Amino acid sequence: MSVVVLGGAGYIGSHTVRALCESGYDVAVVDNLSTGHREAVHPKAKFYEGDIGDISFMRSVFAKEQCRAVIHFAAFSQVGESVVKPLKYYENNLGKTRNLLEAMVAEGVDKVVFSSSAAVYGEPKQVPILEGDPTEPTNPYGETKLAMEKMFRWVGNAHGIRFVSLRYFNACGADPSTEIGEDHDPETHLIPLILQTANGKREKISIFGTDYPTKDGTCIRDYIHVCDLAQAHILALEYLCRGGESDIFNLGNGVGFSVREVIETVREVTGHPIPAQESGRRAGDPAQLIASSQKAMDVLGWKPQLASLQEIVSTAWQWHRTHPAGYRTEIISEGEV
Ligand code: UFG
Repeated sequence: MSVVVLGGAGYIGSHTVRALCESGYDVAVVDNLSTGHREAVHPKAKFYEGDIGDISFMRSVFAKEQCRAVIHFAAFSQVGESVVKPLKYYENNLGKTRNLLEAMVAEGVDKVVFSSSAAVYGEPKQVPILEGDPTEPTNPYGETKLAMEKMFRWVGNAHGIRFVSLRYFNACGADPSTEIGEDHDPETHLIPLILQTANGKREKISIFGTDYPTKDGTCIRDYIHVCDLAQAHILALEYLCRGGESDIFNLGNGVGFSVREVIETVREVTGHPIPAQESGRRAGDPAQLIASSQKAMDVLGWKPQLASLQEIVSTAWQWHRTHPAGYRTEIISEGEV
């Protein structure tokens, strides 16, 4: 009996697959490789190349793997793109998840852990953010994640599927083995972009907005290590296997860092001056996003292990300096960098 991981070749998915394999689970990955990387999939995991929106394909995978539980990462996740191409997001994130649910119902797969996002909250009225706070997304990406949560709730009620929705704050870092890490094309996230500057792949980092009502005028985010997110998925799966009710959990460290503080930390870790340029605000960025993850700690027993920003940036830097072209890099040994 396998755990089927959808989108297991992506950034957070591949780290979770690795953690599952290392914990002794039988794992089967389904990924259409539209944004994922085949090389990111742990060698112990089975791999099916295909689309989660393909009902007969998903039914055959579930039947073959005698699957009773899935972890679902397969979605588009670029906020900016979602504003320009909302239908692409509704079709992929919502439409394909609808088909996935049909296949799950047909094959009796009754447990699912899936990726949601801090983007469901929009501009928060207060921090730290609690799971019961208002959900008013400011972009189609967040809307699709919120709609996915609601679809799982209604379909789950009707067909006996239990779910855990994990609302990630800012995922970052890389597995300390340096075998897997973050490789997006295009890259839009702050930490990898700063590290590309340290790697000499870009001249400078732009600071998007210096007039926010925060301590130094730049946006504040709650950065959470991808390996800590991976562990939360295993805990959520175990919670469902123990008979836990459907529920929603925030995942963050509960500490906020400004864009300037992140750049400074990267300077300390890499020893690179990291030229920075102040520029205008990026549309749709909330000033501050900080999680309360108390519920995940209390109910799931989750406790982040790589919680300091220094550690997070160090693991990301190990990945980026050994893989300057991501998964397309010829292996560079530590001695050469
Ligand atoms: N930033 C810069 N310069 C850059 C890139 C980013 O100043 O070149 C700033 C952003 O304006 C923001 C902060 O760095 O203030 C973090 O930006 P990221 O793009 O790294 O992350 P976001 O907070 O925008 O996005 C994250 C997740 C999304 C999720 C969102 C919730 O990546 O999936 O949080 O708001 F939807």
